Amino acid sequence: MENLESLRSELNDAVGAADDLAALEDIRVSALGKKGRITAMMKSLGGMDPEQRKTTGQALNVLKDEIALAIETRKSALEDAELDARLMDEKIDVSLSIRPESEGSIHPISQTIDEVVAILGGMGMTVREGPNIEDDWHNFTALNIPPDHPARQEHDTFYLPGSVEERKVLRTHTSPVQIRTMMNSEPPIRIIVPGRTYRCDYDATHSPMFHQVEGLWIDEDTHMGHLKGCLIEFCRAFFGVEDLPVRFRPSYFPFTEPSAEVDIGCIRDGDGFRIGRGDDWMEILGCGMVNPKVLENCNIDSTKYQGFAFGMGIERLAMLKYGIPDLRTFYESDLRWLRHYGFSALDVPSLVGGLNR
Ligand code: DAH
Repeated sequence: MENLESLRSELNDAVGAADDLAALEDIRVSALGKKGRITAMMKSLGGMDPEQRKTTGQALNVLKDEIALAIETRKSALEDAELDARLMDEKIDVSLSIRPESEGSIHPISQTIDEVVAILGGMGMTVREGPNIEDDWHNFTALNIPPDHPARQEHDTFYLPGSVEERKVLRTHTSPVQIRTMMNSEPPIRIIVPGRTYRCDYDATHSPMFHQVEGLWIDEDTHMGHLKGCLIEFCRAFFGVEDLPVRFRPSYFPFTEPSAEVDIGCIRDGDGFRIGRGDDWMEILGCGMVNPKVLENCNIDSTKYQGFAFGMGIERLAMLKYGIPDLRTFYESDLRWLRHYGFSALDVPSLVGGLNR
């Protein structure tokens, strides 16, 4: 049997001198572990006579608790010191550049809008915006859309609650921003309007929320030749095909007269297609000369001014240019999809840098 007093002071000294957690753990094992010195003495109690067993047992228990407590106390002091040292050591340098793997990417919708703005902005058009929640007059009436037009029906359009005369509507196209701009500014007007639009539709090529870009150009001597030049140039720059065939096919929109739909040349093979010189056509946008009734609705003298307008779907442009087969994937927020189809934030589209990579 060791001398308890000298063991006590020896262990207390060792605990106090332990300067890391590993050294402290060694002391714990050597004293209180299965083969530790205090444990061995506990085991030897069985061979003592009852009186001696009682006094020595009590003294050993006191010693055991005392040493366990000393080890615990020293352990938390060492842990605190270690944390303090790490806090001093691990400073965060907020001026460091971000890690490459956490770099974000630009969504194809944003990229396509930037490209359209770069091309049409280069022709002198400026970006306008308007409210997503419209009234009936701006979305339909002022655009010469008659009361019985299918677009006004409940199953095509999201109406907000309210009486039929006063109810608001989630704009079904970006065209109401034409009206807002003409009501608020004098010609010449040269604007493009990228933005969200809403219709009750959902399948691989339709979504209840989608994006359009509207164009409006009004001046004293604007004519159909300007419309054609602008859109032919746009299509060729956007798709990066210098001799891309562009066709204007007569059509009807209440807000333009005459109206046309624009098709671009493509080559179809099997299920796929390629944009460019070929024997087939792909529709990409609607356009026309602004209907004089619309100018008059906005207090613009239609005997003095005329203009052209166009509207196109951003998702459709992006799907055609970047080969994205399903429109619904645009809104799924799937990071793998975004890494595949997204664009570098540092690669800003411009006519100088080139729109196509
Ligand atoms: N607003 C039409 C639509 O959503 C698109 C459109 C066609 C806009 C012809 C125009 C235009 O400005 O001239 O279907």
